[in-house]
Amino acid sequence: MTKSEVVLWAASAGLTLAVVGFAASAGPMEDRQAAMKQVGQTMKEASAFASPQTPFDAAKVKALMGGVANTGKKLKSLYPAGSGSDPKSSADPKIWENKADFDKRLAEMSSLALAAGKTTSTDTFKPAFQALGATCKSCHDLYRKKKTS
Ligand code: HEC
Repeated sequence: MTKSEVVLWAASAGLTLAVVGFAASAGPMEDRQAAMKQVGQTMKEASAFASPQTPFDAAKVKALMGGVANTGKKLKSLYPAGSGSDPKSSADPKIWENKADFDKRLAEMSSLALAAGKTTSTDTFKPAFQALGATCKSCHDLYRKKKTS
């Protein structure tokens, strides 16, 4: 991506502030929120390839899913103890009571993303993508506080 493409991408995703926070590494909470947003954006882009209306592009799917897998690995270090107390964080305190389970779910997200990235057709990508999407939802249900605002 060129610089202007990055800016466009960030603006379209409403990410400008988060990206700035990410680059400046304001703290683990900002970093993980920016990383999650990026994963959300990538998943949105990738969802097109689960539809027969979009010609399957194996290289693109592999790149998108590789991005999710790498972010999953990075996210593991972005939940240090004590980083859930910020009122701006939606991280549920249960994360730190069940850190091993939480980390296992992140690892599962990464391995399912890698598996989805190895598919070569809409028909094989679709179920792999849905399995990956299910890991987002099940973790959010358990460990992400509902938005109050
Ligand atoms: C292991 C648990 C876990 C998995 C798996 C997971 N998330 Fe999250 N996600 C969280 C938590 C916890 C937060 C809240 C972080 C915070 O506010 O500190 C979050 C926040 C988010 C946000 C909001 C970011 C923000 O602050 O604006 C998005 C978007 C998101 N996740 C997308 C996804 C997608 C898409 C997937 C699957 C590909 C996924 N997540 C998988 C735990 C998870």
